[in-house]
Amino acid sequence: MRICVIGLGYIGLPTAAMLADAGNEVLGVDIDERVLERIRREGGPKEEPGLSDLVRKVLSEGKMRLSTKPERADAFILCLPTPIQEDRTSDLSYVVSGVKSILGALEKGNLVIIESTVPPGTTAGLVGGLLKEAGFDPRSDVMLAFAPERVIPGKIMKEIRELDRVMGGVTREAAERARELYRSFVEGDIVATDATTAEFVKLVENSYRDVNIAFANELALISEAIGVNVWEVISIANRHPRVNIHNPGPGVGGHCIAVDPYFIIERTPGLARLMEIAREVNASMPSHVVKKAEDILGSLEGKRIGILGVAYKGNVDDARETPAEPIIRMLTSRGAVCTVHDPHVTSFSHPLHTLEETTKGAHLLVLVTDHDDFRTLDPRLPGCLVRERKILDTRNLLDRKRWEEAGWTVWTLGRGSRS
Ligand SMILES: NC(=O)c1ccc[n+]([C@@H]2O[C@H](COP(=O)([O-])OP(=O)(O)OC[C@H]3O[C@@H](n4cnc5c(N)ncnc54)[C@H](O)[C@@H]3O)[C@@H](O)[C@H]2O)c1
Repeated sequence: MRICVIGLGYIGLPTAAMLADAGNEVLGVDIDERVLERIRREGGPKEEPGLSDLVRKVLSEGKMRLSTKPERADAFILCLPTPIQEDRTSDLSYVVSGVKSILGALEKGNLVIIESTVPPGTTAGLVGGLLKEAGFDPRSDVMLAFAPERVIPGKIMKEIRELDRVMGGVTREAAERARELYRSFVEGDIVATDATTAEFVKLVENSYRDVNIAFANELALISEAIGVNVWEVISIANRHPRVNIHNPGPGVGGHCIAVDPYFIIERTPGLARLMEIAREVNASMPSHVVKKAEDILGSLEGKRIGILGVAYKGNVDDARETPAEPIIRMLTSRGAVCTVHDPHVTSFSHPLHTLEETTKGAHLLVLVTDHDDFRTLDPRLPGCLVRERKILDTRNLLDRKRWEEAGWTVWTLGRGSRS
């Protein structure tokens, strides 16, 4: 099939490369020429094992071409951002522009697939409406479907092939056509349903995780109050065969878990009460981290704090919605001078520094991201540079004994003073 993949970011690029490698003729489209330049130069991000090699392969074999503009195709797959706005509602403007951008190339009988995460009803309602306005009946002229992505950054190449998927069609035929297309590279089961169910399923999965993390965070706060170690509590509780509590931490980030519950909340105000509270609990964790820093240092005025990690999770370069951002903002507003290091992230709202620059002269280090680089860090190295050997571990990442033996005082989020 001739396939146009619109948007070559975290999701679009691997999807395009997989489809090309599976024998389809793929045009990868991105509005940003710099994105295309980087793909030509580097393949894909190095954090995704196997992606660069596959992209280089399909480009060199001519199975995938790159362009800033869509061309005629049998199928169009839209992998465009759906960020959250200040008022916590979805910004669907990229999806709207993306749909409009394919209209000139669209023909009757084509398959149009939305991969972007969207509020329930968007594919049939908003996208269907745009197609209708352009003269295409989304129930007969074109096949319109929603195909959510559930891969985790860092394992995208493995999961994109192996995970089960859901295809939601505006019509049954559209779901089946989408299923056939993805069958070319997906080894997991592909379940067909209607578009709104598939949209809701995608949001439900991440909302489940957000609620579970909020529960873990609540347990962390309670553990600190009653003087026990939440990490021990959760690991023992999880030995129960029907208990699976997630990990607490400094807050929930990323483009999915921290965002998707709002897409349900916005559609059904007042009904998603548990999800709203979970969002509140998780969004309050950065201020808890700042309070712990204050408890450790007293006044933060003029104190130098080294931030270890700004990616929202370990071993990825993605800092979207990261809790590091509010933590740094709140520490700075209380007079602290924050220096920031992340071995993976290359662009961030604050200047990024080397590990040496970040630790030099610090009164406190705050470990925000569970990168392996920090797990394996020799405590003697920052120990020579800091002003005070104090570290706040918000992920329970560090080998406490090893750090204490090197002269550090280690505080861990969720560990009460008696544990
Ligand atoms: N990143 C993930 O792990 C993940 C996982 C599951 C679902 N999703 C969802 O997938 C969607 C895409 O996310 P992403 O992380 O790949 O986004 P991204 O920001 O990494 O990539 C989006 C790309 O689209 C391009 N773009 C924007 N407008 C365009 C247009 N009109 N035409 C062509 N290109 C355009 C941008 O330049 C960018 O390169 C989002 O809805 C997200 O919620 C992401």
